Amino acid sequence: MPITRRGLLLGVPAVGALTALAGYGRAGAARASAPGPSGQLELYSWWTEGADQNGLLALLADFKGRAPLLACYNGARSSRAAAGPQAELERRLAAGDPPDSFQCHAGAELAGRAAAGRLAPLDQLYRQQGWAERFPAELLPRLRGEDGGYYGVPVGIHRTNMLWSNPAVLSRAGADPAPRTVAELLDSARRVARSGPVGLAVGGSWSCRHLWETVLLAGVGPQGWDALWRGTGWDSAAVAAALRDLRDLLALSNPADRSMTGWEDATALVASGQAGYQVMGDWAEAYLRGTLALRPRVGYDWAAAPGTDGVFQYMSDTFTLAAGARHREAALAWLAECGSLDGQLAFNGAKGAIPARTDLPPQALALFGPYARWSLDQWRDGVAVGSLTHGVVASAAWGARIDAALTVFLADRDVPRFQDALVRAAGG
Ligand code: GAL
Repeated sequence: MPITRRGLLLGVPAVGALTALAGYGRAGAARASAPGPSGQLELYSWWTEGADQNGLLALLADFKGRAPLLACYNGARSSRAAAGPQAELERRLAAGDPPDSFQCHAGAELAGRAAAGRLAPLDQLYRQQGWAERFPAELLPRLRGEDGGYYGVPVGIHRTNMLWSNPAVLSRAGADPAPRTVAELLDSARRVARSGPVGLAVGGSWSCRHLWETVLLAGVGPQGWDALWRGTGWDSAAVAAALRDLRDLLALSNPADRSMTGWEDATALVASGQAGYQVMGDWAEAYLRGTLALRPRVGYDWAAAPGTDGVFQYMSDTFTLAAGARHREAALAWLAECGSLDGQLAFNGAKGAIPARTDLPPQALALFGPYARWSLDQWRDGVAVGSLTHGVVASAAWGARIDAALTVFLADRDVPRFQDALVRAAGG
């Protein structure tokens, strides 16, 4: 797709500006003296294309400085492949053929992988790097397994409860760029629809679950959200009202066939003026600013998803050390890169996330774009809650039961039936 190609080229200058800071972290010091590991390293990441891949490429480019003799490759094939890279990873792990270091979301997903014996502990690396003092206190428990050991190294923190919009479309329609409630978003999306474009762009696959969870968060609030993942509150009136909101939002969205639409395709509808809004994580910012080279607040705008201002719903991508990794030393060097200041600055500048490191030098902040600076403030001042869709709050099995219920709802739009299914899903 031409947009993607252009993005790969345009992504480079932004990354270059950030990697110019190399040398702030321990990585920079090590880089000057030691040649690092040699041989091979197999990574496994589903960031195989588009804006997502730009972040990984930026991190790998920085790692090249630390390990110039290492041949490093991504074993995952394109995410548009029929079964997808996650399914292929499952197959390989079950067959005892793990990549050296694979991607995993912090939280329940990581703990589940550790409990299944797929991961090697990283406590020694954490001690060496002093990471328990350098990653946020809210995140540390999500990097541990049930046995208390560390199992993942975060490369950054994404915010998931975000609303993206097209300023020109909104201004023509008289719609609000920062609706404070879902009712206000519905009103504004209807204005957009009356003026021509689609009100709300929604992609396929997990995009509907992502929308569902932000609407649910708005309905129950951060404490109610945490209670849901302890298994209580699913039968409440607040959940019922949120599900009605979801039904009404979907009625203002681009008609299916969503199965063929990725999140980037839906973001492209907003960017091109064919839709007014999209609810999506802030990897969308990497696409809008990096790939499409749109100007922040001019070509696109952002706000917290309606009803969730002051709440930072997060997810964190980590890399792991596979149990039985063939190239253990090389994988540990890669993980040291993932958690280093240099690596985090390179990666997050290209990915739309903020660094997980809490010891950012002030000069680094000046090199981030306006969105990332805003997001850093929001992380510092907001209430942090985890995302379901991106692995933080619930087990894969619970997530799968929710998916099954949502699939039925997308076909029948029957709110009471959906809520019953969610109550049952919470019961196990
Ligand atoms: C998530 C991933 C994010 C982002 C998103 C869209 O699962 O962890 O970093 O890439 O998918 O592809």
